[in-house]
Amino acid sequence: MSTDPARERHTVLAMDPVRNPYAPGAGQRPPELAGRDGELSAFDVVLERIAHGRPERSLVLTGLRGVGKTVLLNQLRSAAISRGWGTGKIEARPDQSLRRPVSSALHMALRELGPRHGDQESVAEVLGVVKAFAMRGQPAGSSGAPTKVRDRWQPGIDVPAATGRADSGDMEIDLVELLSDAAGVAADIGSGIALFIDEMQDVQPDDVSAICAACHELSQQGSPLIVVGAGLPHLPAVLSASKSYSERLFRYLRIDRLERDAADRALIAPAGREGVEFEQGALDALYDAADGYPYFVQAYGKVTWDVAASSPITAADVAMAAPVAEAELAVGFFGSRYDRATPAEREYMHAMAELGGPGGAAVLTSEVAVSLGRKPASLSPARDSLIKKGLVYSAERGQIAFTVPHFGRYLLRHPD
Ligand SMILES: Nc1ncnc2c1ncn2[C@@H]1O[C@H](COP(=O)(O)OP(=O)(O)O)[C@@H](O)[C@H]1O
Ligand SMILES: [Mg+2]
Repeated sequence: MSTDPARERHTVLAMDPVRNPYAPGAGQRPPELAGRDGELSAFDVVLERIAHGRPERSLVLTGLRGVGKTVLLNQLRSAAISRGWGTGKIEARPDQSLRRPVSSALHMALRELGPRHGDQESVAEVLGVVKAFAMRGQPAGSSGAPTKVRDRWQPGIDVPAATGRADSGDMEIDLVELLSDAAGVAADIGSGIALFIDEMQDVQPDDVSAICAACHELSQQGSPLIVVGAGLPHLPAVLSASKSYSERLFRYLRIDRLERDAADRALIAPAGREGVEFEQGALDALYDAADGYPYFVQAYGKVTWDVAASSPITAADVAMAAPVAEAELAVGFFGSRYDRATPAEREYMHAMAELGGPGGAAVLTSEVAVSLGRKPASLSPARDSLIKKGLVYSAERGQIAFTVPHFGRYLLRHPD
């Protein structure tokens, strides 16, 4: 026990749960973005090259759930904004057309750039094209007739919609025209536009091929516009199934677990700012538990902080916190996803977990069928629906794996 009253007061204050710096949660900005310097500087090079009219591929971040793709995407967006780029971000959803979200994102990017443009009329013209693009997306009735006026969504753009530009109804043609015109505004003022697409694996097939075609066209024109995507590990397969040239179009960055140093830094740096330290044994135990997965680093770090009585945080604190953190993850991180599955899908996932073991290795779909005593074709609906729900993915034909780290382990510990 310290007898120094100043230190005593500091210690008590520091372990205050109100000051707990850790931030488990989807898209939650971490108190320290650890281990992503490589990706951040790669993106700086991309921005710099595009600003100089050099050819550059679009970036796509891929990885499991909870590795920090959304957070990194947001950070890349901040980097673009701080260079004066226009930016917009969308989160793709299954069964949703990209028209509205893309038009809102470009509207936002143009609002950032527009005031710096010398010719407001030409900016207004491009906004008219954005509006035309958005309005063309109105769902037609089954007869092909346009929907009633009252069902129409208004993009909130104060200029009249353009005609004959980005309004053909063909997504590929329209997107190329829209993005070229928007990029033109950026080019006029020596800037660029970055369009961020999260959960990109959920973009509909027609829209995926339109995005690929647009990126292809824009890079040939040397237009200062890039798409930066993020998605699950099978996103490269989704893109190349759509356009064979997509491998040359996108630069894939695999976002993975944090190395030991980075995982330690993610814990130590925020605590240090609150005057709290970790014993080496505590860091060892935390790395064991979190396995370098950023979401888990935050989750275990947060509970450990609340459990610890004082600084330095010890291995005993972690031992006390771990079951609590695990129980919280079982409900919030794993359970919330498990709950989305139907009984047939749950059965499928339990079979995957048995076969893949606690390490969550990819398994053969044929083996899942054998272990359930079923014909492979009869399991396709369950598998396809699990893929659509984003719980599993197929990186290679005939294989299947969990998108959520440690999900196999969770299922083995929670038999139905
Ligand atoms: N580089 C990092 N260092 C520390 N924590 C991180 C890092 N990246 C993400 N996190 C944390 O991990 C969690 C998941 O991040 P998120 O971006 O939502 O992952 P994903 O989009 O890949 O599912 C969040 O709580 C976030 O604060
Ligand atoms: Mg995410």
